[in-house]
Amino acid sequence: MSLYRMIYTSRPFGFDSGTLNGILVHAQQENARVGITGALICREDIYLQLLEGPEGEVKKTVERIKRDDRHLEVVVHVEKAVSERMFGKWAMLHDPAATWIWSRAEVTDDAVERATAAEVEGFFDKLCDAHNAPDIT
Ligand SMILES: Cc1cc2nc3c(=O)[nH]c(=O)nc-3n(C[C@H](O)[C@H](O)[C@H](O)COP(=O)(O)O)c2cc1C
Repeated sequence: MSLYRMIYTSRPFGFDSGTLNGILVHAQQENARVGITGALICREDIYLQLLEGPEGEVKKTVERIKRDDRHLEVVVHVEKAVSERMFGKWAMLHDPAATWIWSRAEVTDDAVERATAAEVEGFFDKLCDAHNAPDIT
């Protein structure tokens, strides 16, 4: 089975804890059913989401997500076949207010428009490393 990864950014519309919770609960249930894993970095000014899994399921899910009116300006930055998962333990890991992504000022200053695929994927590399770091004993 070929594994596929997609990463997009978008601008939240109507961001609050109830909305976010609804998105996450649905995402985790549905992703578990179709073999998708990934991570959603959420801040009131931006979403960054990585989805990985069977190619057809990832593409179908991203098409549905693009039509969702709880966010705007969906831009796909990374779309490629991969040999292994980054977030295999998580149907959808939730990361609030990550400090390793762009600052709010950078987002306002069009950082998303200037972003390279490597830069966006790098945010998820850091998140992945943070979650796979050994526990402090
Ligand atoms: C930021 C964001 C992330 C989402 N992530 C997922 C996801 O990982 N998996 C998923 O099935 N739906 C996700 N959704 C929800 C879908 O957009 C959609 O609402 C849901 O799949 C139901 O689609 P339907 O009403 O066309 O059946 C997300 C929505 C938003 C706004």
